[in-house]
Amino acid sequence: MVEKVFAWLDERLGLKTVYDVVLDRKVPKVNWWFTLGSASLFLFLMQAITGIFLTIYYVPSPESAYDSIQYIMTNVAFGWLIRGIHHWGATLMVIIVFSHMLRTYIFAAYKYPRELTWLTGVVLLLATLGMGFTGYLLPWNQKAYWATTVGTQIAGTIPFIGPFITRVLRGGTDLSAVTLARFFSVHIWVLPAVIGLAIGIHLYLVVRLGISGIPEKED
Ligand code: HEM
Repeated sequence: MVEKVFAWLDERLGLKTVYDVVLDRKVPKVNWWFTLGSASLFLFLMQAITGIFLTIYYVPSPESAYDSIQYIMTNVAFGWLIRGIHHWGATLMVIIVFSHMLRTYIFAAYKYPRELTWLTGVVLLLATLGMGFTGYLLPWNQKAYWATTVGTQIAGTIPFIGPFITRVLRGGTDLSAVTLARFFSVHIWVLPAVIGLAIGIHLYLVVRLGISGIPEKED
């Protein structure tokens, strides 16, 4: 029965071809350092799933944000666990994505023909850091408020366009409900969309070009 359903779907969707091309590829001799890309992908998916659960109770307004997080931590079933995974997962994702970048740099995997894999990776690193920056404000506690005040102030030190960037980030001269609303929107819509798209292109290139392998002495 299962075989029949699979054969029916395979005929229409080409599942076996997708499996062969994506998962049953030939790879050169690799080691554990080559698992960091997949670990980054896993962490992104975990952040997406736990983040979706958090938005069910989180309220992005100055009056309710702090209380809604307290509610998640104390009253929602496994809320503390979901928030804990999202909180520590964020830090871990930055560390793992950065380590993956170092691995591809040290192994010279950015060279021809993988320049675009590297460039989409740069987008992924910046967007991941952006997720950390925008997510940090959401608990709307003292630490979040002042860290974002300082972070947006630092952006203001860029010559010429600095003050403009600070105003765009804050949605005014000071942190307010507008800041919280735009950080929330960027955190749950804009950056995940950018990361999703960049991962799509990144993995397409990984599958198309194959893994580069460990460089030899003569390379
Ligand atoms: C969310 C972030 C990221 C995800 C999910 C991701 C995912 C992956 C995966 C699954 C692979 C194949 C396996 C591997 O080599 O580990 C890969 C390869 C690669 N990634 Fe990433 N990556 C991310 C960020 C980055 C960053 C920040 C860079 C560099 C700026 C980068 C550059 C590369 C390069 C050059 C390769 C080709 C490696 C080779 O052919 O040996 N990636 N990525």
